[in-house]
Amino acid sequence: MRRFFVAGNWKMNTLSRSAAELAGAVARAVPAALPTVQVAVCPPFPSLTAVASAVAGSGAELGAQNASPEKPGAFTGEVAVEMLLDVGCRWVILGHSERRLILGETDDSICRKVRAAVSQQLGVILCVGETLSQRQSGQTEAVLDGQMQGSLAEVDERAFARIVIAYEPVWAIGTGVTATTEQAESAHSHLRNWLAARYNPRIAAETRILYGGSVKPQNARSLLEQPDVDGALVGGASLKTDDFLPIIRAAENIHKG
Ligand code: PGA
Repeated sequence: MRRFFVAGNWKMNTLSRSAAELAGAVARAVPAALPTVQVAVCPPFPSLTAVASAVAGSGAELGAQNASPEKPGAFTGEVAVEMLLDVGCRWVILGHSERRLILGETDDSICRKVRAAVSQQLGVILCVGETLSQRQSGQTEAVLDGQMQGSLAEVDERAFARIVIAYEPVWAIGTGVTATTEQAESAHSHLRNWLAARYNPRIAAETRILYGGSVKPQNARSLLEQPDVDGALVGGASLKTDDFLPIIRAAENIHKG
């Protein structure tokens, strides 16, 4: 059985104090690792150490939102995988659509980051997802295939011990529009079939595929109940404990056969 994974992507929000408060509330709600739900919070870089202290000893894990593919050195403004591990990160979000579309990241650059992270045992939440115009022109599956192929080039099956996929339709991110359960399940099952074809049935069966895009307490349960939805990457709703904690509880209360 795949363990649920609920991760909060705080994006470019919180200051060190609000970050520590928010993380502290999550840590109090998840004092020890939950048997059926893995929980992570991903604050901006400057708050990583404050959040690391706030979640220390709890069941909440720490993640970052980007990493350099390079070894430490002359790369002004970049943050190396070693540095993320040093402050206690277990995860890094890579390939988020905001980085692809606003900051110009390509599958190729994302792939280099994926390889750098997994080679040092840093877990990766790899985001893929289509835009509205791509969906409307019937290209969703081709776009997902291209992103998976490109972002995972030369990534071998052993790396999947540390890779989680997040399906995040761009049109659902921060818009309040959520994919229907059918749209989410269809994309997730497509991604799982892609994993089976590119790797093997075991990788497909074991890899967690999270849904992201306007996940809220009101829609979490129905999304998480879908057979191929193994968790949520939560943006806006992860900034409020009143929204984030019920999403974790929703996952805890689902028992898939
Ligand atoms: P959202 O963001 O929940 O605010 O839509 C999700 C994400 O971008 O990871």
